[in-house]
Amino acid sequence: MFRNISVIGLGKLGYPMAQFLSSSGAKISCYDKDEKLVDDLKKNHGEHLHEIGLNNLVNNNNDLIYHNNIRSCISEAEIIYITVPTPSKLDGSFSNEVIIEILDEVADVIIKNKKSYIININSTVQPGSTENEIIPFLESKGLKTNDDFYLIYNPYFVALGSVIRNLEEPDYLLVGSSSIYAAKKITKFYNSLYKNPKIRLLKFKEAELTKLLVNTYLTTKISYSNFVKNICKNFDDISDLRVLESVGLDARIGTKFMLPGGPYSGPCLPRDNLSLKKFCSDNNIQNSFSDEVQKINNETIESLYKVISTLKNQYGIKSFGFLGLGYKSNTQCFEESYSIKMMKFLESLKIKVYYYDPYLTEKFSATKVNSFEELCLNSEIIFLSYIDQHFNPIVQVKHEKNIWDLWYHFSDSKFNRVFHKVSDFKKFVTKISNKNQKIIQFNKKIG
Ligand SMILES: NC(=O)c1ccc[n+]([C@@H]2O[C@H](COP(=O)([O-])OP(=O)(O)OC[C@H]3O[C@@H](n4cnc5c(N)ncnc54)[C@H](O)[C@@H]3O)[C@@H](O)[C@H]2O)c1
Repeated sequence: MFRNISVIGLGKLGYPMAQFLSSSGAKISCYDKDEKLVDDLKKNHGEHLHEIGLNNLVNNNNDLIYHNNIRSCISEAEIIYITVPTPSKLDGSFSNEVIIEILDEVADVIIKNKKSYIININSTVQPGSTENEIIPFLESKGLKTNDDFYLIYNPYFVALGSVIRNLEEPDYLLVGSSSIYAAKKITKFYNSLYKNPKIRLLKFKEAELTKLLVNTYLTTKISYSNFVKNICKNFDDISDLRVLESVGLDARIGTKFMLPGGPYSGPCLPRDNLSLKKFCSDNNIQNSFSDEVQKINNETIESLYKVISTLKNQYGIKSFGFLGLGYKSNTQCFEESYSIKMMKFLESLKIKVYYYDPYLTEKFSATKVNSFEELCLNSEIIFLSYIDQHFNPIVQVKHEKNIWDLWYHFSDSKFNRVFHKVSDFKKFVTKISNKNQKIIQFNKKIG
């Protein structure tokens, strides 16, 4: 068990992580260099993150303790969780610059206080980083690995919007380590935090590669689904949805991520694919796989553009509305959002774009509206990026609308994706478009 934990980096992963760790009863000391963010966190307790379940952790009577420098943040720590950005470089690999910047200060504290730490890197790093860059850096400061410091690479598999559930109920915990001492300590800690956790203790490079391979398997599944969608599009009597659902029923394959829909997007999947590609090329490993997955993803975006061109050229549409402009619900993050790419394409065709998205705070060129009703009133076509519990279907809309339901939210055949209040919404959409079937036909015809 750890009684004193430090968390450095309080962003989309770090703040929920700190709150989650506080449920262990340990004293949680936190630091983020963004002073405004810290002030906001003190006041709104991560409300801006929209993470479901975060509130319960905030109210667990074990408040986070904020520090305004790393030195004081780690003074009492037994373990330091580092959850800072590792931005993609132009070549596709992840930069460890921020991690190194922090370790520089941590090393000074180790030297000055003659105190050793377990340092737990949660950020996603390029395979090989720990042994080739991070440990050599600390050693260059005169420190000895597994003596003055004990490194752990322990990435979590979380998705924005469900970070708390993913932290609380991980399929397994991935730990890269070269120290029996640190591995034992973290195992003991996670055994106290979780009920029968599955802990995979691996070497550093194995864990770093595993983290990438999990995400790139997901991108593969998404591109595979879109490849199947492409096949089915050529046959009026084949439903891509029913085919993919059926393929996924084979337990070796699984139903998750087996849905014809949009491209992969967001802050993790696209860049993880590029990182794997770079890792292979650095090691002279032939890899046409990452290229193919990415190519299908680009084609999937292109196919959305083609639909838009059809809407413009054949149907003469002049206005278009997005229900959700971000890449998914419950997050203000919009990195690599295909809706935003579509928005830009629509605007290049001089189609007026409106959006309703309760999560995004950023300003966009499209016109933001404040309700679904307003979106319907302004737009000839409504594109459903996502629907969720914040959507209020109890609105009266006079006009009949075409709904572009890319993800088949309203298909009866769809399973495994439960949306709160979906039945209400379904009734509502049925009302505005007369028949639910029409939505599916619309998909088939042009999607
Ligand atoms: N968000 C996710 O869903 C997710 C999932 C898996 C892995 N990851 C990985 O976790 C890492 C963090 O991701 P994130 O989404 O939380 O990023 P983020 O940008 O939301 O948060 C990072 C935080 O680190 C802070 N920071 C930057 N430099 C700092 C410094 N020198 N000292 C202290 N704080 C500093 C920033 O101010 C920011 O608040 C990345 O490597 C990412 O790839 C994120």
